[in-house]
Amino acid sequence: MIQNNPQISIILPTYNESQNIVNILKLIRENIPKGISTQTIVVDDNSPDGTGKIVEDYILGIKKIAENTIDIIHRKAKNGLSSAILNGIQNAKGDTIVVMDSDFSHPPQIIPKMIETFKQYQCDLVVASRYMTGGNIHGWTIKRKLMSKIATVIAKKGLGVKTKDPMSGFFAFKKNIIKGLNFDALGYKFLLEILVKTKDIDVKEIPYTFENRRFGSSKLDSSTIIDYFKSVWKLYKNGKIKTTDEKRNSIRFISKAARFFTVGASGFGVNYLISMLFTSGLTEMWYLHANIFGIIASISTNFILNKVWTFEDRDFSRKKTFSQFGKFGAFSSLGALVQLGIVFTLVDSYEIVYPLALISAIGVAALSNFILNKKLTFKEKLWN
Ligand code: GDD
Ligand code: MN
Repeated sequence: MIQNNPQISIILPTYNESQNIVNILKLIRENIPKGISTQTIVVDDNSPDGTGKIVEDYILGIKKIAENTIDIIHRKAKNGLSSAILNGIQNAKGDTIVVMDSDFSHPPQIIPKMIETFKQYQCDLVVASRYMTGGNIHGWTIKRKLMSKIATVIAKKGLGVKTKDPMSGFFAFKKNIIKGLNFDALGYKFLLEILVKTKDIDVKEIPYTFENRRFGSSKLDSSTIIDYFKSVWKLYKNGKIKTTDEKRNSIRFISKAARFFTVGASGFGVNYLISMLFTSGLTEMWYLHANIFGIIASISTNFILNKVWTFEDRDFSRKKTFSQFGKFGAFSSLGALVQLGIVFTLVDSYEIVYPLALISAIGVAALSNFILNKKLTFKEKLWN
């Protein structure tokens, strides 16, 4: 018999689940409500323990039931949980998709409750949640619990996610809500990506108790944790909320200006030291010549520090660097002229006391210098 349209696709990623997979497939089948058609998709990453072959054999051995089929996708190598889920989704025929682990941590008895929740609330996403009244975790070490909590707090505070258990690996959604979205195949946080990248979807959470696996071992390791931080950073950077975006732009502008002024202050030190050094015992140079060296030295150190630190430009190709250095030097001289002009005007025409005139002049010259170099020397947008 040929099944044309299952209502639900259940995605089961596996890596070394030989002791779990057949039993979980059986238990899932027992828990599908009557009258609902499903397609279960096992996504196996060439598990060394033979999980893929075990599933093949199991599919051949079972009585074909048209309403509930099992497919297996064999992938060449271990490519991570999120990427396995994505692969499953690409092959899903149902318009509702359930994602769950295959190690009995996610009780299949929850699946009927998910289906019920979709019906009752007409929602788009149902999250099986450990972190709400009625939810729990059994069998995890304190360390693992703490890690999970920290990851959850980061997701909620850092990315503004409202869901209580955004790190859950057990959830179901209507396939149309992810249409057109691009997912990053890194790590373990597929649900989190859905939550951050979709707009105006209706999310419901239902409680369940996570049971730590009895057979096999967790595949979560330190690289998964590093991947998590990378993903959160990426999601944060590409954040969709306009106002915080603008806030971030202004923070970036101010922090760059602060670096530029710090470099300027360091240039003052370099200038002073070199000028003094060259007039002292070392070379006994004429003081004006020594001062020229001081100026050149400070413009050079200022340039390098601003290039590398302030504007984070590590491209030292010769042509580009020389042309940047030329512009930087020109703007520095221009800044000096502007500063002299302002001091003179303020003191002479407006009778402002010299220290105040000097501070204002340095401020204006430094700021215009910063803006000119940002735009023209290092080719950045002014507000970005
Ligand atoms: N195909 C494939 N490829 N499957 C994988 C891979 C992979 O690289 N890595 C893990 N899996 C499968 C496992 O075989 C298991 O069925 C499921 O994905 C979850 O992996 P576990 O290694 O058992 O994860 P866990 O129990 O430590 O983590 C659980 O809790 C996290 C939240 O705290 C999972 O439910 C995660 O999804 C969840 O984010
Ligand atoms: Mn597990």
